[in-house]
Amino acid sequence: MARMSAPDAPSAAPRILSGMQPTSDSLHLGNYLGALVNWVRLQDEFDAFYFVADLHALTVPTDPAVLRQRTRVTAAQFLAGGVDPKRSAVFCQSHVTEHAELGWVMNCLTAEGEARRMTQFKDKVAKGGNANVGLLTYPMLMAADILMYDAAYVPVGEDQRQHLEITRDLAERFNARFGDGGLVVPEPYIVKGAAKIQDLQDPAAKMSKTGSSPKGLIDLMQDPAKIAKNIRSAVTDTDAEVRYDVEHKPGVSNLLVIHSVLSGSSIEELEASFAGRGYGDLKKEVADVVVEALTPFQARMRELLDDPAELDRILASGAESARAVARTTMERVRERVGLLPAGR
Ligand code: TRP
Repeated sequence: MARMSAPDAPSAAPRILSGMQPTSDSLHLGNYLGALVNWVRLQDEFDAFYFVADLHALTVPTDPAVLRQRTRVTAAQFLAGGVDPKRSAVFCQSHVTEHAELGWVMNCLTAEGEARRMTQFKDKVAKGGNANVGLLTYPMLMAADILMYDAAYVPVGEDQRQHLEITRDLAERFNARFGDGGLVVPEPYIVKGAAKIQDLQDPAAKMSKTGSSPKGLIDLMQDPAKIAKNIRSAVTDTDAEVRYDVEHKPGVSNLLVIHSVLSGSSIEELEASFAGRGYGDLKKEVADVVVEALTPFQARMRELLDDPAELDRILASGAESARAVARTTMERVRERVGLLPAGR
C-alpha cells in the first residue's frame, strides 16, 4: 500500500498512530521486540503515522543538545528497525505545531482533578520529582496526538492503557459538547502476545534502562561482542533442562523468547532442538541470533546518523504528510469550538 502525500488522496486503509519519547540515547531489545517490530508489521495493513514525541520529552528537563541528539537517534531507530518512510509518515511531534494547539483544547476539556488522578502523574509526584505542569497535562497532549489523525487504532504497551482511556473520554466529551463526528474515538491496540523481554541479570524484572545492571540490558547500539558476552552471562537456573517455564525458569524462558522472536522458530521447535543440550549451547545460539539481527540494524543506524541531512529530509517529508492531516483536523476543531477562522 503506497502512502500518498497529496492531502486529497487519503489512503483507504484504517489509520494507526504511535509515538515514542526520545528519552534515552538508544533503544534496548525490549523496546525493539515489544514495540518497533509491531510498528513495522502494522505498516503493511494500515495507514501508519509514527512520531518522536519530543514535546512530551520536555516534561523532563534535558540538556538541549542531548534532546536534539536523542530525537535524531530515536527517529533513526524507527527507520533502521524497518519503518519505511515511503509507506508510513515518520515525523517529529514538534514539527507539526497543531499538536500543541489541539493539546490546549484538550486541556480545556479536562477537569483539574481528573488530570491529577492519572496514575503516571501520581507515581511521578510520589517519587518526589518536582513535577511541572507539562507532566500534569501530558495525557492531554497525548490525546491531541492521537485525535489529530483520526486514528482508528493506537498500538501501545499495557502501560499506556490509561492514557488511551482518557483519550477516548476526551473525544467523546468533545463530540457530546460540540456535535457528533467531530473527533474519531480510537481503539487501543494492545498487541497480544507482544514479546515481553526480561532483564538478563534479573529475569523476574522487565528489561529496562533503569533495571538491575548494564549487563542485564541488550542495548541495540552496543558492540556485538559485548552483547554476546552479556547473553553468555545471563542468569539461568541450577537445573539443566532447556524448557519454557516462566515461573520456574524465567531466565531460560527469556532466552527462548528472544531467540524465537528474532529467528522465527517457535518455542516448541527450540525446546526440541535443545533437548539434551546445555545452557551453554542455548546462550551461544541466542547470542548468534541477536548479533545477526543487530548487525544490519547497526549499519543502517550509522548511515543515518552520519548523514543528518538525509534524516532531516525524511523527517521533513513525514511532517509534511502529517501536517496535511493536522491542518484539516484543526480547521474542523476550530470551527466546532467557536474560534474564528483565520482569514487566509
Ligand atoms: N506516552 C507514550 C510513551 O511514553 C508516548 C506517546 C506520546 C504516544 N504520544 C503518543 C504513544 C501517542 C502513542 C500515541 O510510550
